[in-house]
Formats: sequence, C-alpha cells, structure tokens
Amino acid sequence: MTERIEITLRVNGEPHRIAVEPRRTLADALREDCGLTGTHLGCEHGVCGACTVLLDNRPVRSCLMFAVQAEGTPIRTVEGLARDGRLHPLQQAFWDHHGLQCGFCTPGFLMLAVGVLEANPEIGAAELREALSSNLCRCTGYQNILKAVRAAAADMSAWPKSGDR
Ligand code: FES
Ligand code: FES
Repeated sequence: MTERIEITLRVNGEPHRIAVEPRRTLADALREDCGLTGTHLGCEHGVCGACTVLLDNRPVRSCLMFAVQAEGTPIRTVEGLARDGRLHPLQQAFWDHHGLQCGFCTPGFLMLAVGVLEANPEIGAAELREALSSNLCRCTGYQNILKAVRAAAADMSAWPKSGDR
C-alpha cells in the first residue's frame, strides 16, 4: 500500500488536515477526505468541468490535480458560496433565470462563473460564451445559464469572496 502524506487543505476558509496517497486527486480528497461532496465528478479526465473549483480564485479542474499540489493555496468549493442563510448572487440568479441543471454539472458551472465574474465583472457577451463553453452539459442550450450569469454580474461586487474568510 502506498504511504499516505499528511497535508492541510484550506477550503472555504477552513483548514482540513487529511492523510492522502500522493496520487489522490483534489476532487477525491475534497469529496471523500474533507466530506465536501458538492464538487462532482463527470468524466474524470479534464473534459466536462463538473469538478471545477477555485484555486487561488481561479477555476481549475479538480480531477486533474493532485491534492498534495493544492496544499497552501486557498480552495473554494460550491459549499462556500452561500453565507448567513443567503444564496450567493450567482446561485440566486441561476434559480431566478432557470439556469439550474443537474447536480453534476451545476456546481461546476457555478464555480466557473464565480471565477470568471470575479476576474472580470464587465466581461463581454462573446467572451462569456467562450468561457462557459469550457463546461459541458448536453441537456441544455446554455441560454438560461448565460442569462443567469449576466444577471448576477451586477450583484457580485457587493458580495465578499467566500475564500477570503
Ligand atoms: S470530472 Fe473533471 S473535467 Fe470532468
Ligand atoms: S450534465 Fe447536468 S443537466 Fe446536463
């Protein structure tokens, strides 16, 4: 059996001390070692984006990273979006504009959109389409997701980044 390494992952502002094999993916560590099952796995090889989380506020595919690589860097997952009983503006906008899809792709879309809007709240329509095309759902035409993300952009500035706690 491969030796386990003790690492601390800082997720949504909280430290998680876990022991993992060096080959453990960040996605598996979040779900199975940290108990944060909001991050989902679809393809497990970097194509679908279901496993998207924010690493240092940038969207990454957590199925393509090893957990040990993420030690020391703030991680944000879908569990960290809502606060004080209020949905994050993007969660609210997905609800209001019927952008919610299934439990596999939606957390990935939310985290991707949070990263994109925090980096550029004024993002243009074409650029936003391009950014969202990196996550896959065969069950939607993406129109309501686009609508929701555009609607949320204005409300994002007043919302603190969850990872900054
Ligand atoms: S599960 Fe990571 S990209 Fe599909
Ligand atoms: S993959 Fe989630 S609804 Fe299509």
